[in-house]
Amino acid sequence: MIKVVSASPHQTEGLGARIASVLKGREMIALFGDLGAGKTAFTRGICSGLGISDGVCSPTFAIVNAYSGKVPVYHFDMYRIKDSDDLFATGYYDYIGQGVIIIEWSENIESELEPDCIRVRIGKTEKDNERIFEIEGLDDYADFIC
Ligand SMILES: Nc1ncnc2c1ncn2[C@@H]1O[C@H](COP(=O)(O)OP(=O)(O)OP(=O)(O)O)[C@@H](O)[C@H]1O
Ligand SMILES: [Mg+2]
Repeated sequence: MIKVVSASPHQTEGLGARIASVLKGREMIALFGDLGAGKTAFTRGICSGLGISDGVCSPTFAIVNAYSGKVPVYHFDMYRIKDSDDLFATGYYDYIGQGVIIIEWSENIESELEPDCIRVRIGKTEKDNERIFEIEGLDDYADFIC
């Protein structure tokens, strides 16, 4: 597991961009963390690292936003997903393997995540702008990512 402390949204985006540079293009990245943790900020960084600059925002109402960068990116927000019928209806299973899949509120679909997915837990601290990232699945790139 890699642990990284971010002191600002800018640093969070930088972390996302560094991670983007080690992706092959078909990974699933499962994000865990409360409202306002920084899941979308982190996703914005991954997207910018993949050459996507247009407004990356939480796809809460759309459920999934598709972006095309160096590789396709499918950005999910599972906040409103309550059961397997809801999940099926998003097309989730069809998107797997088609590009980089980034999932906000992975808590809500934990049993349906790919076993080899990259897991990122984002926690707040007592400092307003500080976030702790715990990243599983990228240990081989720890020196570069940290
Ligand atoms: N170190 C940091 N990293 C990321 N965001 C930070 C940090 N410090 C403060 N913030 C603030 O926290 C908020 C994070 O918002 P963001 O939309 O990324 O959260 P989220 O986890 O996607 O929330 P939601 O569950 O509502 O989608 C922003 O207002 C951002 O400015
Ligand atoms: Mg969000």
